[in-house]
Amino acid sequence: MAKIIDGKIISAAVKDRVAKEVSKLKETSGVPGLAVIIVGEDPASKVYVANKKKACEQIGMLSVEYALPENTTNEELLALINELNNKKEINGILCQLPLPKHLDEELVINSILPEKDVDAFHPQNVGKIMTGDYDFLPCTPAGIMEMLKYENIEVEGKTCVVIGRSNIVGKPMSMLLLHKNGTVTICHSKTKNLKEVCLSADILVAAVGRPNFVTADMVKDGAVVIDVGINRLESGKLCGDVDFENVKEKAAYITPVPGGVGPMTIATLMQNTLTAFLKQNK
Ligand code: GUN
Repeated sequence: MAKIIDGKIISAAVKDRVAKEVSKLKETSGVPGLAVIIVGEDPASKVYVANKKKACEQIGMLSVEYALPENTTNEELLALINELNNKKEINGILCQLPLPKHLDEELVINSILPEKDVDAFHPQNVGKIMTGDYDFLPCTPAGIMEMLKYENIEVEGKTCVVIGRSNIVGKPMSMLLLHKNGTVTICHSKTKNLKEVCLSADILVAAVGRPNFVTADMVKDGAVVIDVGINRLESGKLCGDVDFENVKEKAAYITPVPGGVGPMTIATLMQNTLTAFLKQNK
């Protein structure tokens, strides 16, 4: 039976650390500010944005939400980003993805000033992650690395398998595991022998977006299983990409959904906003 890695406890420790720094800053140079932009009515995005705002408030950071209508144009969105790029009290800008189909995601990401890009999605920040000389790390992969560190799980020399190759999770996750000297394989929808590759994993990260995709027969005894999926079933219940009930019997460590990786993403965002503030106010 696996040890359950509790994202609520670990994220609380990270947020506590950030809150202490923010409270010190309050007395001297002011507080970090995060602008969160959401376009349209995607219910999952609305929940994520509300959680980000709540975390800012808990920590004592300034948080400003811009909820734009579904029919917002590229020009309108870029004009808002330009305004926020120039606002001194805003240190971090996050545009919640996915955007409605008619908007140009790449153009939007590229228009955020790299030093305010707390998601680390701008090509300049992505490039820095490749070389290992980064200012910010993308929130979900960095949150996962924090979980591994908290549990004293060594990455060096381990066989790491990441399922999913998104720019938000799969690709940067692989890079962070590589920086820690893991031997990393990225799997995706065209991978032929997925089960065999997964069975080789000491550390298995599932970022697929399909409920219960990783089953117990794909997991090696004693593996560390990290579940990035947040899928809503027809019943309304949240579930991950991993068949938690059966996989927990084989794994040594496993993250639950909810209460696993999700809270870590938000904690890292708070850390990144603080980092942005400190760099901008050096
Ligand atoms: N959509 C899903 N995850 C994320 C994230 O980490 N940042 C942004 N901006 N959008 C997302």
